[in-house]
Amino acid sequence: MKRSFFAVLFLSVLGIAAAQAEPAASIALPAPQKSGGKPILDAVAARASASGFGFPSNAISREELSTLLWAASGKNRTDKWTIPFAQGVDPYVDIYVAGEEGIYRYAWQDHSLKLAASGDFRAKINPQAFARAASHILIFVSNRDSLKKKGGSQQHWAKWTHVAAGAMTEHVYLVSDSLGIGARYAETMDVNLVRQTLNVPDDEEPICVFAIGKR
Ligand SMILES: Cc1cc2nc3c(=O)[nH]c(=O)nc-3n(C[C@H](O)[C@H](O)[C@H](O)COP(=O)(O)O)c2cc1C
Repeated sequence: MKRSFFAVLFLSVLGIAAAQAEPAASIALPAPQKSGGKPILDAVAARASASGFGFPSNAISREELSTLLWAASGKNRTDKWTIPFAQGVDPYVDIYVAGEEGIYRYAWQDHSLKLAASGDFRAKINPQAFARAASHILIFVSNRDSLKKKGGSQQHWAKWTHVAAGAMTEHVYLVSDSLGIGARYAETMDVNLVRQTLNVPDDEEPICVFAIGKR
């Protein structure tokens, strides 16, 4: 009797530990900061990549992540976004956020994070030493569904997704500076790993990654 009680207790504790280890399938982000911060021209004047040596390694809060993601492709009007998307179509570059617990896709529709893969992939995504120190790695991956509906060619869509990724990453640089976060753009990534882990189809493209850490 006693033995079975302890067995049940042990299994329950294991169950709770397993449940705690499993990252949430969906995370509602807190409201982003939409005003204040460093004056825009000061942020432009200060814009710089954080050095790969001694890369800032403190944790970025959910509030800060919320503001960075909103600045990178969140809605700022009824049917428009913080960065320009051609022909007013829905965003055609997805942002994935790799952290300690897993990789999440930013859903601009309801400003939330959706689990794409469990586990810590940060050091594998970008093999450069500084990526190990980063609080999070942002991964920019094309998602041309909205463009395809408008017609055009792969070459055309590729150009537009690259332009969008440039605008998105520049916003991340400027807002990072305002929030005291170090950021570094990188083209270096394990593309095969990103494709496999995030199920990126052959006609879509992992464009770049971005390491971020609080100073
Ligand atoms: C297209 C592009 C690709 C880059 N790829 C990498 C990279 O793979 N690894 C890295 O450490 N930095 C990378 N960088 C960051 C640059 O090294 C950095 O932006 C450059 O040294 C200029 O410094 P600044 O951003 O402080 O002006 C890249 C930057 C750009 C624009």
